[in-house]
Amino acid sequence: MYDFRPAAETAKPELYHDLLQAAEALTAGEPDSVANMANVAALMWEFLPQVNWTGFYRMVEDELVLGPFVGRPACIRIPVGQGVCGAAARDRTSQLVEDVHAFPGHIACDGDTRSELVVPVLREGRVVAVIDLDSPELARFDAEDQAGIEALAEMLSQRI
Ligand code: SME
Repeated sequence: MYDFRPAAETAKPELYHDLLQAAEALTAGEPDSVANMANVAALMWEFLPQVNWTGFYRMVEDELVLGPFVGRPACIRIPVGQGVCGAAARDRTSQLVEDVHAFPGHIACDGDTRSELVVPVLREGRVVAVIDLDSPELARFDAEDQAGIEALAEMLSQRI
């Protein structure tokens, strides 16, 4: 049995350090990318407060396709350049969106979502997936969340 749930008041740097360690341990030696994405989606859900969707979109040929996640059922295919996920894939940079209603072209999969963080996973310079976190709170994510998820994305580069 795995129980990685952190204490409620854990500060963000420590939270992301522990999340990275748990993800590192759970994916070590496992070559199946779906299994690894599924466990990391579940870990993000367990570790991060105030989120309503945690998961992956994978780059398949030239579009993003829904991968393992926790949350409500979501849009399946996202063209590169569309929405927050598509912007992250096109620009190969993280997208920190304090208010999704102010983001041109935001794709609303869950009407409760108010803020979003999307981080690309790169392998040899190419986007292989994006990590998507949604929250029902305005401005839920900040630079510490971005740095934490970017470290996770780097660790996962060869594991998904
Ligand atoms: N809101 C995202 C779409 C994916 S869902 O949030 C799960 C976007 O604009 O790309």
